Amino acid sequence: MAKPQKDEAHIWFGRRDIFSKIGWGSFFAFFGIMLGGSLRFMFPRVLFEPSTTFKAGLPNDYTIGTVSEKFQKEQRVWIIRNEDGFYALSAICTHLGCTPRWLQVEDKFKCPCHGSGFYRSGVNFEGPAPRPLERLKITKADDGQILIDKSIKFLWEKEQWDKPGAFLKA
Ligand code: FES
Repeated sequence: MAKPQKDEAHIWFGRRDIFSKIGWGSFFAFFGIMLGGSLRFMFPRVLFEPSTTFKAGLPNDYTIGTVSEKFQKEQRVWIIRNEDGFYALSAICTHLGCTPRWLQVEDKFKCPCHGSGFYRSGVNFEGPAPRPLERLKITKADDGQILIDKSIKFLWEKEQWDKPGAFLKA
C-alpha cells in the first residue's frame, strides 16, 4: 500500500514541476510580448516620402515664351515663362493620370493615352480630360531661385489661377 503512495507523490511533484515550467514559460512569453510592444513604440514606423518642393533655378534661366520640360521626368512639372512671369503646370493628365507631351510646333500638350489636348495655359480643349491641368504653387526662394511646391494646387474650375502663388511675376 505504501508503494503506490510514493508513485502518486512522484507523479504529483512531476506535474507540479510541469505546471511550474508552463507558468514561467507563460510569464516570459507575456513579458517578451510586452517588451516588444514597448520597443515598437520607441521606434515608430515612419514613411519617408520625397519632398514636395524643389528649386527650379533662376528666373533668368527661362526664355520668354517657352515651356520648360526640364522637370517633367523628375518632378512631373512644366514651367512656363510668358511676358509677365511664370506658372507651373502639373504634368499629370486630368483624365487618368498619364503624362502628356509638349508639342512645340502645335503649341499644345497632348496626352498619348487617350488623346486629350491642353493649351499652353493648361486648359483642356479636346479628348476625354474633364478639366484643365492643375497649376502648382510657384514662388521665389530666399536665394532668388524659383521654388515649386507640388503639394499646393490651383484649380481653374475653382477660379484659383489668379490667387497668390499660382503665378510668379517676372
Ligand atoms: S490619361 Fe490622358 S487622355 Fe486619358
